[in-house]
Amino acid sequence: MSTEQDILKRELSWGAGVAVAVGLLIGVVVVSSATMVLHPPSSVELIDPARLHLEGEFTEQNLGTVQNPDGSITTRLLAAQFAFVPRCILVPVDTPVTLRVTSPDVIHGLIVAGTNVNTMVIPGYVSELRTEFRSIGDHIMPCHEYCGLGHSEMWAMVRVVPKESWTPDAEGRARCEVPG
Ligand code: CUA
Repeated sequence: MSTEQDILKRELSWGAGVAVAVGLLIGVVVVSSATMVLHPPSSVELIDPARLHLEGEFTEQNLGTVQNPDGSITTRLLAAQFAFVPRCILVPVDTPVTLRVTSPDVIHGLIVAGTNVNTMVIPGYVSELRTEFRSIGDHIMPCHEYCGLGHSEMWAMVRVVPKESWTPDAEGRARCEVPG
């Protein structure tokens, strides 16, 4: 027979257990966002998906990687059925890169294994994330959000080059080609 006090004790110990579990989960979120820069995009930036090709930062000549006058690197991408534009992204190794991506049609996603690059791309919004690529070479960046019949064919290549080989043109732009 449990007395009222036994019941109360049991309730309190369950409560303490749940509090510890919640504390652990919050700890994982805080530590991973502080040390591994893993976090969802927090800013809500709106853009008119019907006018991307006509005006503003996502017109064709603005896509790809550019070294800004202050030395920082920005890569702008379009995720559209069923390709990323451009298909090849050139970036220098161990350098902070800001990725800015948007979609003119449906929801896409992108991920680069071994990095914190992992986001959804939603028409009407700009997805921005900051990263640093630490390994030289070609990295596949597939679309990871089912976007239609061509989804499995939708990917881009991230080409990470040594700093010595990073030679942007006079406008600060750098491009690459996907082989084949
Ligand atoms: Cu784009 Cu799946």
